[in-house]
Amino acid sequence: MPEQYTTGVRELDELLGGLQPHTMLLIAGHPGAGKTTLAAHICYSNSLNGEKCLYITFYEDKEKLYRNMSAIGLDLRSIEEKGFLHFIKLPVASTDEILNAIMSLITRDQYDVVVLDSLNPVLEMTQQQEASRAILLNFFYQLTSLIKGVLVTVAEIPLGKSDLDLGAVEFVVDAIIYLKHRVEHGLLSRIMEVRKVRGAPLTFVEAPFLIIEGEGVKVYVPPKPARVLSGKERELKTTIELITEMLGELRKGDILHVSYPPHGRSPIVIAPLIDLAVSNDARVLFVSFTYAPDELRELFISICKNYFELEPETTIRVLNKQFYLVSYNPAAYSLTHLNSLLVELIKDLNPDIVVLHGGEELSTFARDPGEFWALFKNFLIWLKNSGKLVIVYSARVRSFCTKMTDSLSDAVARLHYRYVNGEPKFVFHIWMRGSNPRVLELTEKDFDKYSHQARKLSDLVRLKTTSG
Ligand SMILES: Nc1ncnc2c1ncn2[C@@H]1O[C@H](COP(=O)(O)OP(=O)(O)O)[C@@H](O)[C@H]1O
Ligand SMILES: [Mg+2]
Repeated sequence: MPEQYTTGVRELDELLGGLQPHTMLLIAGHPGAGKTTLAAHICYSNSLNGEKCLYITFYEDKEKLYRNMSAIGLDLRSIEEKGFLHFIKLPVASTDEILNAIMSLITRDQYDVVVLDSLNPVLEMTQQQEASRAILLNFFYQLTSLIKGVLVTVAEIPLGKSDLDLGAVEFVVDAIIYLKHRVEHGLLSRIMEVRKVRGAPLTFVEAPFLIIEGEGVKVYVPPKPARVLSGKERELKTTIELITEMLGELRKGDILHVSYPPHGRSPIVIAPLIDLAVSNDARVLFVSFTYAPDELRELFISICKNYFELEPETTIRVLNKQFYLVSYNPAAYSLTHLNSLLVELIKDLNPDIVVLHGGEELSTFARDPGEFWALFKNFLIWLKNSGKLVIVYSARVRSFCTKMTDSLSDAVARLHYRYVNGEPKFVFHIWMRGSNPRVLELTEKDFDKYSHQARKLSDLVRLKTTSG
């Protein structure tokens, strides 16, 4: 089996389709895009696998680089001390001198990974002359065959320019990784564009990535499911008949949108979630864009007390066992980043029910509505295809968003209020896939019936929380 090399980032390795011996990578981007970081990441990760690396640079100061990389968890000094890294700073000289210096370094020892950070001194000098392009082309062919593993080259695109004349290099690279950064509502968002150019059909993938303190480079591949899978998953049980009456038979893979007026968020809408979670022993990831986890905890405690007569300790036991409460301030993230974080979290926790709460303003953060809905729809379909029940709770602040979310859902429940003698009554407008819309008004009689049935749920909760 041929030896495989790594970028140190699983998702990137997958996008590249693995790194075979004699691969040449080109990392391109504006200053500060993360080229040096990614190059160092590749060195570091291979050295951990016992591969020998050579890092050639013209501009980077060794001490500064080592310090910066150690902040993101790459201890270059230790791999250097163990003999797996050789760091060389070359002076900028004539093209001939540079090429000779590189060649002699590479032939002096056997390296598995060689980084050239950056190609710019070489590129700039050959841009005018066709003859030196041919020399360069030849040089890189030779270089890739001399290196056992991967040749990583870096090209810096000057600020203000959108591209770089790569000249001959384009013809020898196997893959180009463009690192881009853009600003989304005032926040930095990093995007990696991976183009495989040789040995495979041209593929083009964009994925957000982060440079994380103590962790290095992390790439997120946003899910883009090509098909919607049918929800043949098992049906979910409810204990309270009223909830079955209201929502019909929900299945895993369904999307339920529960909305309410922004001035009247009633805790009653959370009751079905508690029923579904308890009746199905489901694990729930509850993501709120409005409340903090401890506020959610209090909310659950008061709902369970009011509707199911459950003591706080019992509710806490249910929460600890089955609920994972998390909250994000969406204004502090770019949408792609937020999407990535949620996907990662869902992959890690593998919940049965995913709740998105209070995200009605999310679409206002997108540059254009199409971008938001493409992201959201892909996310929902991915959840659906993974067999999660998705419950979206949102206030109806923007009619367009409410309608869009309704139209992406398999079941819709809109809470309205009807005022009788100044007292609000709950009126639900309900629609389920395959059925006609209905209006359900909850009367005192319903609440009596409900409270009787709610006791069944509390008994179930008590049974479950004491027996394990
Ligand atoms: N400790 C750190 N945590 C997170 N990001 C960092 C850290 N140190 C540097 N960065 C980010 O890494 C980027 C610098 O990356 P670098 O690889 O030097 O860019 P390039 O080589 O493309 O010019 C900067 O944008 C900076 O924001
Ligand atoms: Mg750099």
